[in-house]
Amino acid sequence: MRTPLWGSKSDGMDLTGNTVLITGGGSGIGASLASAFHRLGNTVIVAGRRAGALAAMVASHPGMAAIELDVTDPESVKRAVAVVVRDHPSLNVLINNAGIVSGDDPGSLIDEASMTAEVETNFLGPIRLTSALMAHLRRQPRAHLVYVTSFAGFTPVALYSVFSATKAALHSYVLSQRFALKDTRVTVQEIIPPWVATGFVGATDHALAMPLEAFIAQTMADLATDALESVATEGSACRNNPGRREHAYIEKFNTFLLAQSF
Ligand SMILES: NC(=O)c1ccc[n+]([C@@H]2O[C@H](COP(=O)([O-])OP(=O)(O)OC[C@H]3O[C@@H](n4cnc5c(N)ncnc54)[C@H](OP(=O)(O)O)[C@@H]3O)[C@@H](O)[C@H]2O)c1
Repeated sequence: MRTPLWGSKSDGMDLTGNTVLITGGGSGIGASLASAFHRLGNTVIVAGRRAGALAAMVASHPGMAAIELDVTDPESVKRAVAVVVRDHPSLNVLINNAGIVSGDDPGSLIDEASMTAEVETNFLGPIRLTSALMAHLRRQPRAHLVYVTSFAGFTPVALYSVFSATKAALHSYVLSQRFALKDTRVTVQEIIPPWVATGFVGATDHALAMPLEAFIAQTMADLATDALESVATEGSACRNNPGRREHAYIEKFNTFLLAQSF
């Protein structure tokens, strides 16, 4: 067992025998996590808006299930939760992974639709879905809530200012929820990716991005421990934001990023 990074203890997850719902499971990190859990003998349900991406996952992973879900739409969440709980009463792991990024300039006008979509998807969406599943999860012998936030929640990327702020907000929510659930059978873990080569931003082979396979291997290993956070070495400097000395650090970091080509 690894010593928890921060705060109180979380029991690690058994990586087999769970029923796992993964939002954004049709692509990138979510799809790779879905494959990893499927390989290890879990029942996996992938969720997202694109039926085609979900169908491709199901076709290539016998026994995997899929559900169409838009986390920005309360009715869609309600519908999907009812179906998943009915069809998979043993559901005990929720991985809130769905997210979007738009890019913006906080020194000028920010597009209303983009900022609303980012806040709805990255911040309100996971809260909405988790909240709708909470009563079900609390009835399970053991349940795990997992949130995919971002290094940018700790070291904001000025080119993605709203995105960064949504992830900081989600991290704050995770801390409160972990406290609220500390005497229950539900654990709360946070995955804090560095830049990972999924195409979420930039090329899938950018030299600064962590390869997806290595990221998933590290994440799965961390989920099995009592670590409250999974932070790859590549993202640890950003996670370890220097507190009140952050201003100079963030200026240096963003100046460096602006000099890169994406
Ligand atoms: N890759 C990175 O460098 C990086 C770094 C830090 C954090 N992250 C975080 O990692 C997570 C996964 O990102 P990724 O890199 O794997 O990118 P991705 O391939 O674009 O995955 C994002 C997933 O979210 C789903 N999604 C988006 N809006 C949704 C909605 N309204 N309802 C339900 N699902 C929705 C998408 O599926 P549909 O389009 O089918 O809905 C997609 O499968 C995100 O939360 C992202 O912020 C990524």
